[in-house]
Amino acid sequence: MTNRQVTIGKTDVHTTPLGLGTNAVGGYNLFPNLRDEDGIALVKAGLNHGIQLLDTAFVYGLDHSEELVGQAMADFDRHQVTLATKGAQDFSSGEQVINNDPDFLTQQVDASLKRLNTDYLDIFYIHFPDKQTPKAEAVGALQRLREQGKIRAIGVSNFSLDQVKEANADGYVDVVEDEYSLLHRDHEADLLPYLKDHQISFVPYFPLASGLLTGKYDRDVTFPDDDIRSQMSDFQAPRYGQALDAVAKVRPIADAHDATVAQVVLAWYMQNPLISVVIPGAKRAEQVTANAKALDVTLSTEEYNTIDQAFTPFKHSASGKSLADPD
Ligand SMILES: NC(=O)c1ccc[n+]([C@@H]2O[C@H](COP(=O)([O-])OP(=O)(O)OC[C@H]3O[C@@H](n4cnc5c(N)ncnc54)[C@H](OP(=O)(O)O)[C@@H]3O)[C@@H](O)[C@H]2O)c1
Repeated sequence: MTNRQVTIGKTDVHTTPLGLGTNAVGGYNLFPNLRDEDGIALVKAGLNHGIQLLDTAFVYGLDHSEELVGQAMADFDRHQVTLATKGAQDFSSGEQVINNDPDFLTQQVDASLKRLNTDYLDIFYIHFPDKQTPKAEAVGALQRLREQGKIRAIGVSNFSLDQVKEANADGYVDVVEDEYSLLHRDHEADLLPYLKDHQISFVPYFPLASGLLTGKYDRDVTFPDDDIRSQMSDFQAPRYGQALDAVAKVRPIADAHDATVAQVVLAWYMQNPLISVVIPGAKRAEQVTANAKALDVTLSTEEYNTIDQAFTPFKHSASGKSLADPD
C-alpha cells in the first residue's frame, strides 16, 4: 500500500488523496435499504485499506451518518483519520432552511463534535450558501472555531465562484467541495483555476457519477421510477450513450493495469493537479476495498491524456454550455 499524502489548503492537515464519501452510511433519507452494520463495515474497510479522509455531513441521515462514522472510527487512532463534515441545514422551524448565521454554524460544529465523539474536526464545510449571511461573516465564525482548536480547516460546498471569492475575502477558505467528474467538467473553466491560484484545495463529489463511471452499466439498463438514477441527466439519452462510449475507452487502460475501470478513473482524478482528494461513495465494504486499490495505480502521461480526451465532449464549451448536456 502506498502512502501518498496531500495537504489541505495552507493548513497543516495532511491526508490521503483518496477519501471515502459516506452519504450512504446511515443516509436513510437519501438511499433505500441501507443497514447500519454495512455502513460501519465500509468505513472500517476504508480505514483498514489506506484511506484516511472520511466525508460526512449532518444531513446524511439527519445525525445518523455522523453517529455511525463516529462509532466506526472509535477502533482507530484518531490522528490517522481526517474527519470532514458539513452543516448549514436548520430544521428548527420544522422544515429545512439553509442557515449560515455565525451562531448557528457554531452550534452545528459543537453538535457534530458530539455526534462524531471527537474534540476536533479536520475540515468543516458550510454545506450550502444561504441567501442572507455575508459569506465572509460566516467564514469568520469558522475562523474563530479554528482559533479555539475545534476545526483545523475551513471549507465551503456548493458555492459559485463569486460566492467562493466573497467567502475567501480574508483568505480563510482552505477547501471547496463541489460536483465534478469526468462527466461534469464545467469547473475546469473558472472555479478550479481560481482555487489553484489561491492555494485552496478542491474535493469533487459524485466522482463516479453515481456508479456510471465504474463501467458496470450497459445500454440495456433501466432503473425503476423510485431509483434516483431514473431521473438523472447522466442516465438519459443521448448523454448516457456518449458516457458509455467514453467509458469504453477507459477499459483497455484498466485491462493493461489489471485494474477495474473505477480504479483507473479514481487514479485519473488523483493524478489531476487541480484535485486534492477524491471521495467516492459506496454501499458495501467490497466496493471500498476495491476502490482503495486505485492508490496503487499510476497512469502514464499518455494514458492520462487518452482518458482526458475520451471525456472532452463533457468539458465546458466556449458557448458556456457543456456539449454533452441534453437540450
Ligand atoms: N457536498 C455535497 O453537497 C455533496 C453532494 C453529494 C455527495 N457528496 C459527497 O460525495 C460522496 C460521493 O458521492 P456519491 O457517493 O453520491 O456518488 P459517487 O461517488 O459518484 O458514486 C458512488 C456509488 O457508486 C457505486 N460504486 C462505488 N464503488 C463501486 C465499485 N467499486 N463498483 C461498483 N459500483 C461502485 C455505489 O452505488 P451502487 O452500489 O448503488 O451502484 C456508490 O454508492 C458522497 O458519499 C458524499 O460524501 C457531497
